[in-house]
Amino acid sequence: MTQEFDPIVAGAREAFAKAGTPAELENAKAQYVGKAGRITELMKGLAALSVEEKKTRGAAINQAKQAIEAALAERRQALADAELESQLQAEALDVSLPGRVREPGGLHPVSLTMERIEQIFASMGFDVADGPEIESDWHSFTSLNNPPNHPARSMQDTFYVDIDGDDGIPYNLRPHTSPMQVRYTHQHIKRYADAVQRGEPMPEIRVICPGRTYRVDSDATHSPMFHQCEGLWLGENVSFKDLKVVFTDFCRTFFESDDLALRFRPSFFPFTEPSAEIDIQFQSGPLAGRWLEVAGSGQVHPQVVRNMGLDPEKHIGFAFGMGPDRLTMLRYGVSDLRLFFDGDVRFLRQFR
Ligand code: PHE
Repeated sequence: MTQEFDPIVAGAREAFAKAGTPAELENAKAQYVGKAGRITELMKGLAALSVEEKKTRGAAINQAKQAIEAALAERRQALADAELESQLQAEALDVSLPGRVREPGGLHPVSLTMERIEQIFASMGFDVADGPEIESDWHSFTSLNNPPNHPARSMQDTFYVDIDGDDGIPYNLRPHTSPMQVRYTHQHIKRYADAVQRGEPMPEIRVICPGRTYRVDSDATHSPMFHQCEGLWLGENVSFKDLKVVFTDFCRTFFESDDLALRFRPSFFPFTEPSAEIDIQFQSGPLAGRWLEVAGSGQVHPQVVRNMGLDPEKHIGFAFGMGPDRLTMLRYGVSDLRLFFDGDVRFLRQFR
């Protein structure tokens, strides 16, 4: 077949390649296969030829036309691809940019204190027990040697719930975690009995009960909801001396200070006899020299031991109740208790 039209095809290819935009490409196309294009002109020229010539020349022109149209289609595609590519480039996301910051959270300062208390007492062999915050009158008061109408009840301004217990007295929001003394021993009484049956010595009771407590009270150092941690150690021969050792050890570990003085100041609780408030005194730092009350304590009253289902001749020991909120204030130098419960992140993030 003739190569007469090859230069035209080559010219078209070159023109298409030079076209940098779809509009330029359409212009180039018009010069070859448009109404007045080179190929169109050649087609027109066929009219004057003989049938035989029309056939061969026409076929050759057609071949050239097809080659040009293929080149055109190829270039169109190439331009479209390039256009898409540059669009993608322009809209690209930089995945290496840092995202919107999500700050890591942290434990609440009082939770930090609770964890610390639990760790220290666990290292001294204490179990940790949880209990209900809505309590029966018997658990909160009567079992703790504080019967209805006893004047000691007024030591705690109690919230009552609108539901009566089995004894006809409304349930209360526990004003202390002391009810757990009684609940814990009741939960474990079978274990104690089984041990005795096996001829083993009666297991000791050594437990702390941390948790939320409630009283009708609200100012810079009191909140209607606050925290307590009760401690109880009963055994055959556990004395006030052990209370002093355990609590002194605890305070010195908790505050990371060996020169911390403790004072056991005589006091009254219906459930302990004798009873003492425990005060501590820092020897250095911003609080140095002041006596600060941190806990109530005492030898567990025989009647309370009986209410636990145990024999007060065999189970002797001490209990104490402390305020983790207050310990947190002292440890971190916080002056207003309410800051712990406002939920202000500017305050809380300082403990992260
Ligand atoms: N439950 C007492 C209170 O809330 C504290 C306490 C506990 C005192 C155990 C003595 C023994 O005030």
